[in-house]
Amino acid sequence: MFITLEGPEGSGKTSHIPYLVEYLREKGYTVFPTREPGGTSIGEQIREVIHDLKNVEMHPRTETLLYQAARSQIVEQVIKPRLTAGEIVISDRYYDSTIAYQGYGHQQDLEQVRSLVKYATGGLVPDLTVLLDVDVEIGLGRKKKDNEWNRLDAYTVEFHKRVRAGYLEMVKAEPKRWVVLNAEKKWDEVQKELRKTILAAIKQ
Ligand code: TMP
Repeated sequence: MFITLEGPEGSGKTSHIPYLVEYLREKGYTVFPTREPGGTSIGEQIREVIHDLKNVEMHPRTETLLYQAARSQIVEQVIKPRLTAGEIVISDRYYDSTIAYQGYGHQQDLEQVRSLVKYATGGLVPDLTVLLDVDVEIGLGRKKKDNEWNRLDAYTVEFHKRVRAGYLEMVKAEPKRWVVLNAEKKWDEVQKELRKTILAAIKQ
């Protein structure tokens, strides 16, 4: 089973995943967590380039392609082999991030972006995608406080509002694949809902 977590900045995805993984392992499941961009040596090197605050001149198409380069590597090197071995792969972001950020956020042609992600993933679609939804200003405020600021966070609030709206449109277009959780709730409550959602999907 392939599960992905998505969300605007500061949704808390990254802090939730280790606890979720531990919980599922205690229940006896073999779970492999990973993150994008990154999760492979090549991917982590690309992550540095994309997120470096120095790279202010990066064009949206360059940014889009770099994410796909990191993605194709992790799909082939990590995700597909783990899925073939029968493991549950949980990814902190996947191609929906490209559609939300590079597509909706940068207002690039959505069809072109979709065809690029299809090329990068070889058509591998998650079984379940959880959107941890949070108001843009609240989310960006959390990230600033935690000192995790990267080049994309520095885009305008309008950019991030388009990202969130993009996610919500994607949920509407494919309601069977997505579950939306309100990430503005208390951390413990979000974790509880996340565990419940994922366990229910695994047991199906
Ligand atoms: P994160 O570790 O905070 O989730 O940072 C990843 C950043 O990269 C976040 O700002 C979203 C962005 N991103 C994209 O814009 N497109 C993508 O395809 C992916 C995977 C991430």
